[in-house]
Amino acid sequence: MKNISGNPYLIRNNGEVLIDSIPLDKIIEKYETPLLIFLEKRIRDNIKSFVNIFNEEFENFQCFYSLKANFLPDICKIVCSEGIGAKVVSLPELKLALKLGFSPDKIIVGSPYLQDALIELSIKNRIKEIIIYSIKDLKKINTIAQKFNHVQNICIRVNSQKYESKLGIKFDEAKIKLLEKSISTYENIKITSILSHFGTQMNNIEQFEKNIKSLVFNLELLLKHDIFFENVNLGGGFPEATVMDQNQLKKIAELIKISFKKSNLKCPKISFEPGRYFVGDSGLFLSKIVKVSEDRWIFIDIGNHICPKFARCSLRFYNATQIAEPHKYKTSIAGIIPTDQDVLAKNYFFTQDLREEDNVIVTNTGAYCLTFSNRFPYSLPIIILIEGGKIKKIFDPNFDKDFSLN
Ligand SMILES: Cc1ncc(COP(=O)(O)O)c(C=O)c1O
Repeated sequence: MKNISGNPYLIRNNGEVLIDSIPLDKIIEKYETPLLIFLEKRIRDNIKSFVNIFNEEFENFQCFYSLKANFLPDICKIVCSEGIGAKVVSLPELKLALKLGFSPDKIIVGSPYLQDALIELSIKNRIKEIIIYSIKDLKKINTIAQKFNHVQNICIRVNSQKYESKLGIKFDEAKIKLLEKSISTYENIKITSILSHFGTQMNNIEQFEKNIKSLVFNLELLLKHDIFFENVNLGGGFPEATVMDQNQLKKIAELIKISFKKSNLKCPKISFEPGRYFVGDSGLFLSKIVKVSEDRWIFIDIGNHICPKFARCSLRFYNATQIAEPHKYKTSIAGIIPTDQDVLAKNYFFTQDLREEDNVIVTNTGAYCLTFSNRFPYSLPIIILIEGGKIKKIFDPNFDKDFSLN
């Protein structure tokens, strides 16, 4: 028995594929392709390993799941049941998080665009923190907080200094002055946290190091002006859990601790807002080869409309029908959108024999595929959730019409 794609819930046993102990053939009998499959146990395992590793290094460590990675209610409910908070970027996401039962004191709201209605709902529900990307937003938040007789906790998103990043505040003397003035003028806000998010799919520990450096730089700069933070939020950016092993995660936790020790700062409370790490490798597509073309090109019945490049997933492809055969023959894989741009992989190691109707498993599609998907005119796939040998259909385009937020 061997893992497929490093995922302990995807097993190949000679010619058979098992998905959380369900034979793939049974799934194929019941469902047509394309089918999107989620593995509940994998989400729970990923959360537990992440939380355990950071809890070992930090007291009061907190975690907020970035709903934008995957806001399917059934997926969010699993995350919520593990005691994780929610990080939301929009009004529909906030409504969803509240409806699904995330406790408001574990919800943080942040986006470059904080519309009044989003601020108002956040304050009415006494959510934990609002993250600002611009000091000017403090005035608006203060006015709304005053109306609801509340002092709103604020997190400041600083620019991570990543090349060309436009997100977050780059502090200079003028901006520090403006912040000082806002703090002394506005009585209905309290600055509690600082956030720096560096990027997505950070495979390299140096990227985390740069993010911590940027945070320490900002903390020291603001401390000179007597501006303190109780909490440091390092954002997300972790790759799929099968791509970043637990030793690497542990090294990152230790690195953060050492960085604070080296600085003259007291180690604050640490938080993260991961998305991909929790859910990325819990999702896989079951698709099939619809056409075999010249020069070892195959076309499969998903494409960039539902498995978009923008999602930056670590896609892995397996010929499920010939799973026991060696996957060592370079093959290029196209999707079904009628454009030459719909390429899923080039020169990918696949089986020698390329046959129409063979089933193809595409792994690591749990994060951002649905949220970045678009409405190219194909019907959406059925989505199932597997847990302990049971299959639950969580989305059926024939009845549910659409999985997007409203
Ligand atoms: C501020 C912030 N936090 C968290 C995340 C989640 O990132 P990931 O899913 O890569 O962990 C993102 C993603 O873009 C983000 O911009």
